[in-house]
Amino acid sequence: MSATLEDKVVIVTGSGGGIGAVIAARFAKEGARVIVSDRDRGAAEAVASRISGAIAIPADVTSEQDVSALIERTLEAHSALHHVVANAGVIRASHPIAETPLDVWRSTMSVNLDGVFLTIKHSAAAIANSGGGSILTLSSISGTGGTPLAAAYGASKAAVRNLTATAAGELRAQNVRVNALVPGYVNTPLIDSEVPVWESTMGLAPGGFAQIIDQKQGRLISPEDIADAALFLTSDQASMITGSSLTVDGGFTSQLF
Ligand SMILES: NC(=O)c1ccc[n+]([C@@H]2O[C@H](COP(=O)([O-])OP(=O)(O)OC[C@H]3O[C@@H](n4cnc5c(N)ncnc54)[C@H](O)[C@@H]3O)[C@@H](O)[C@H]2O)c1
Repeated sequence: MSATLEDKVVIVTGSGGGIGAVIAARFAKEGARVIVSDRDRGAAEAVASRISGAIAIPADVTSEQDVSALIERTLEAHSALHHVVANAGVIRASHPIAETPLDVWRSTMSVNLDGVFLTIKHSAAAIANSGGGSILTLSSISGTGGTPLAAAYGASKAAVRNLTATAAGELRAQNVRVNALVPGYVNTPLIDSEVPVWESTMGLAPGGFAQIIDQKQGRLISPEDIADAALFLTSDQASMITGSSLTVDGGFTSQLF
C-alpha cells in the first residue's frame, strides 16, 4: 500500500517550530515532498534539515511579496503544489480590550488573518493547476467563544473559520478542498510562553492553568494529535470534506461543566 501523501507537494507555513514542524515531519513520513516555511529562516532550515526530502523556503505570511514568492519557488522546485497548511500564527495575550494597544490588535490580525488570506489567495490556482488538492487552516477554540485578555487572537481565529468556509465554496469547482482545524490547548512553545502571563492576569495561582486543562481537556493536546487530524483532512480519505471545521480539543468546548 502506498503512503497517504506519496509524492504530494505540501507547504506548511510557520513550520519552523511548534505544531507546524510536527505536521511537516508527519507528512514527510507519509511520502510528501514538504516545504518548511517560516519567517525565521534559521528555524525553517533547521527543521527542513531533519526531514527527509524537505526544503526550507522562508516567508513572512504578512507579506504578499513573500507569499507569492513562496508559491513561485515551490513550483520551480517541484513543478506542482498539492496541499498547503496555513499554520503560521501568533498570540499576544494578557490585555483586556480597553488596554489593548492598537499595534497588538493589528499585528495579530496581520499574521493570523491576513496571512491565511494571502496564503489561500496565492496558492489556490497553483493547487488547481496541479490537479487539485487542499488547503488546511488553523483556527482555535479561542475563535468559538469569548477569549478574555486575547480579543485579537479570538477574533482572528473566528474569522479564519469564516474565511475557510468562503474559500471552500469558491474553490470547490477547481477541486481544491479547504478545511479548518480547531485545536484546544496544545503543548507548544506558544503555550509555554503564555501560561505564566495568563495565570497572573487572570488571578490564578501558579498551576491554575494546569488544573483547568485537567478538568476541561483531560491533558494538553500533543502536536502529534494535531498532525493526525491534519493528515486525515489533507488525505484522500477526506475527499468529500470541504468547508468543515474539525475540533480537536479533548471535549473542552462541548461540556458546560
Ligand atoms: N498551541 C496551541 O495551543 C494552539 C491552539 C489552537 C490553535 N493554535 C494555532 O496553531 C498554529 C501553530 O501554533 P503553535 O502553537 O505551533 O505556535 P508556535 O509559536 O509554537 O509556532 C508558530 C510558528 O509560526 C511562525 N510564525 C509566526 N509569525 C509568522 C509569520 N508572520 N510568517 C511566517 N511564520 C510565522 C513562528 O516563527 C513559529 O515557528 C497557530 O496558528 C496557532 O494559533 C495553537
